[in-house]
Amino acid sequence: MIWILGATGRTGREIATRVAARGGTPVLVGRSAERLRKTAADLGLGDADVIATDDPAAEIASRRPAVVVNTIGGYAETAVPIARACLPGGHYVDLANDLVAMPRLLALHDEAAAGGSTFVTGAGFGVLGTEAVVAWLCADRPAPRQVRVDALPSVAITAGRLGEALARSIVSGLTTGGRRYVDGRMVPARLAADPRTHALPDGQTAKSAAGPTGELLAAHLASGAPDVVATTGLLPTAPLIRAILPAAGALLKVPALQRFAVRRMAAMEFKPAPRPREHSWGHAVVTWADGTTREAWLRADDAMDFTSNAAAETAVRLARGEGLRGAYTPACALGAELAEAAGATISEP
Ligand SMILES: NC(=O)c1ccc[n+]([C@@H]2O[C@H](COP(=O)([O-])OP(=O)(O)OC[C@H]3O[C@@H](n4cnc5c(N)ncnc54)[C@H](OP(=O)(O)O)[C@@H]3O)[C@@H](O)[C@H]2O)c1
Repeated sequence: MIWILGATGRTGREIATRVAARGGTPVLVGRSAERLRKTAADLGLGDADVIATDDPAAEIASRRPAVVVNTIGGYAETAVPIARACLPGGHYVDLANDLVAMPRLLALHDEAAAGGSTFVTGAGFGVLGTEAVVAWLCADRPAPRQVRVDALPSVAITAGRLGEALARSIVSGLTTGGRRYVDGRMVPARLAADPRTHALPDGQTAKSAAGPTGELLAAHLASGAPDVVATTGLLPTAPLIRAILPAAGALLKVPALQRFAVRRMAAMEFKPAPRPREHSWGHAVVTWADGTTREAWLRADDAMDFTSNAAAETAVRLARGEGLRGAYTPACALGAELAEAAGATISEP
């Protein structure tokens, strides 16, 4: 059984459908039995079990599902207790992509390995979309000197509220400030530094700037490179906004302002809009000590579809007993090929 926590949400419901399509048995977990049953009916999963609880960790510890997929967000606080509840033997998957939550989950490596469990953090376009390219380029080669990754998601907007889970992720990213790896150490850098316009392999263009995403940590872990930069298309690249971002991030460290920002952001209503570009792209440029440089592109369609596929594929593979035991980013646990199973292709230009 694969439990989907936050199954009424945008990604939770998609992951549940895709777990079922891959032959897994999804169990929909959330805070309201009524909302869960409606979601199950809407998804054509009327037979799926639903579990309403305000304390998912306690339910997991007593009912012992094979795999838990956490889509409730707030990973800096929710990931560790929920992952620990899966021990021993149960597996855990989340969609974190920030530099607070991911190191906390990865710090459980020894506990997970000793318990025969696999904990995977970052099983979405955010992390796997670039990590897979780095792992693909670095396979069977020595650790490179330098890595640059660029995450360029393209996502269709569905009508509705932004929601608290996503709002907490965005605010958490802004408050971290910029980061990069220099000589093997993660050091502060200016938020939205290094803006870049990419000529994409399909002839379109996209912009990105450096941000404190989990992709930075994953690129470092997957390559072993001492110098790493990660940029993302989710950060604004306009000069005026880039100039005020560091100050906005510093202000949001004040807890009362942070709560206010999360509330306001969560309530923002969106009108439906098609995805801005046909494809989502993950890009990596890897340079070795002898000066050799290689680059490659991961191409996916809508980044949210890729995210749902990646999380479902990870969960189903872990349920089958695949993957290394311990706490990992997705390609480190299951290989770069996971991204291809989630619908992407990776190639050199
Ligand atoms: N790495 C990536 O590429 C990637 C991509 C997409 C999303 N994400 C992350 O995935 C998470 C989910 O995103 P989403 O768009 O699916 O969010 P969402 O639509 O708001 O869904 C989250 C669900 O979790 C439940 N929930 C929210 N707050 C909770 C809390 N405090 N305690 C327990 N349950 C809670 C809610 O269900 P109930 O109210 O019914 O219980 C809600 O439906 C976010 O953190 C987002 O940043 C990552």
